[in-house]
Amino acid sequence: MTAPLYRIPGATPAAVAAAPRANEAGGEPAPSGTSGTAPPSGAPEGGAAAPARTVAEVLASSQVEAVLDELDRELVGLAPVKQRIRDIAALLVIDKLRLNLGLAAQSPSLHMSFTGNPGTGKTTVAMRMAQILHRLGYVRKGHLVAVTRDDLVGQYIGHTAPKTREVLKKAMGGVLFIDEAYYLYRPENERDYGQEAIEILLQVMENQRDDLVVILAGYADRMDTFFRSNPGMSSRIAHHLDFPDYTEDELLAIAERMLARQNYRFGAGAREAFAQYLARRVTQPHFANARSVRNALDRARLRQASRLFAERDRALDLDDLCTIAEADIRASRVFAAPAAPTTADAGSGDRSRPIAGRPL
Ligand SMILES: Nc1ncnc2c1ncn2[C@@H]1O[C@H](COP(=O)(O)OP(=O)(O)O)[C@@H](O)[C@H]1O
Ligand SMILES: [Mg+2]
Repeated sequence: MTAPLYRIPGATPAAVAAAPRANEAGGEPAPSGTSGTAPPSGAPEGGAAAPARTVAEVLASSQVEAVLDELDRELVGLAPVKQRIRDIAALLVIDKLRLNLGLAAQSPSLHMSFTGNPGTGKTTVAMRMAQILHRLGYVRKGHLVAVTRDDLVGQYIGHTAPKTREVLKKAMGGVLFIDEAYYLYRPENERDYGQEAIEILLQVMENQRDDLVVILAGYADRMDTFFRSNPGMSSRIAHHLDFPDYTEDELLAIAERMLARQNYRFGAGAREAFAQYLARRVTQPHFANARSVRNALDRARLRQASRLFAERDRALDLDDLCTIAEADIRASRVFAAPAAPTTADAGSGDRSRPIAGRPL
């Protein structure tokens, strides 16, 4: 209770001036972010228009629906996540209408946890979330600052508070995305500086929640343990979103979308080869969902380039340059390794344990 009160400079002037007290949420001042009009990015009617009375008016002036639609189109699968994002957006739109009618409200708590395995889209969705919050006027800038423990916690006594505050300052007006947030808490080390970072975060999450949204991301089981040991943090998280692993069909669809975005496509037999590649890859160590797909495609493009490079004198047409051939996929080491649980690393004596290093 006697801990210093952290206010991060860079918060909205109104918030700084109006919130000198760190009491309970009920004592919070009217949020500056939520009472204003929509941000300049999407306000065709302008701030001078009468306050919105319908959902359609809020949607039109904030243009938040465009972000929601983009999220739908851009990301394969993730139906439960997309639905949760829509629910949160609905809550905020209604909150706006309530404010417009003068209904008193404290700024809603918007801190979130995104749990799931690597490569399931957490960072990507967080960036969209920042945009949505910005368009609805809940944060001033809508940028995302992604950090890990090392960005917040210092090595020496006295280094952690300035480091954490610096990060918070950068994130003010947007979203602070803390990847693998549970590493902030290291109970095995009694004097761990991570605790200091957590305490500062907790205060800012409470006192400046009208200008900063924190998203904690990481593996679901570790996050559970973290929340159980840190009830203060747990109680400040309003929305928990769980990101499921992708099915093989979804991974294939993600691959085709990634290729299309870069003006590539699978040639004859390449799609089937990639489906077989995935069937093997998902059982291997260090499989990271969509990120593994992206890496595999990067390597396939390298092989395509080497293949074409070898044909010095042939005129290469559009088709040549855009096509990932079956051979570009089948040359992967994933096919060389025996099927079923295996390591992709050649030369390892132990076939049953994950091995560091990515399969090629
Ligand atoms: N559902 C999806 N559809 C298309 N691409 C995706 C999808 N999920 C993730 N990706 C892509 O996979 C990569 C890793 O995603 P990312 O958001 O960084 O995952 P995480 O933060 O969970 O590790 C990014 O290039 C992202 O664009
Ligand atoms: Mg990430």
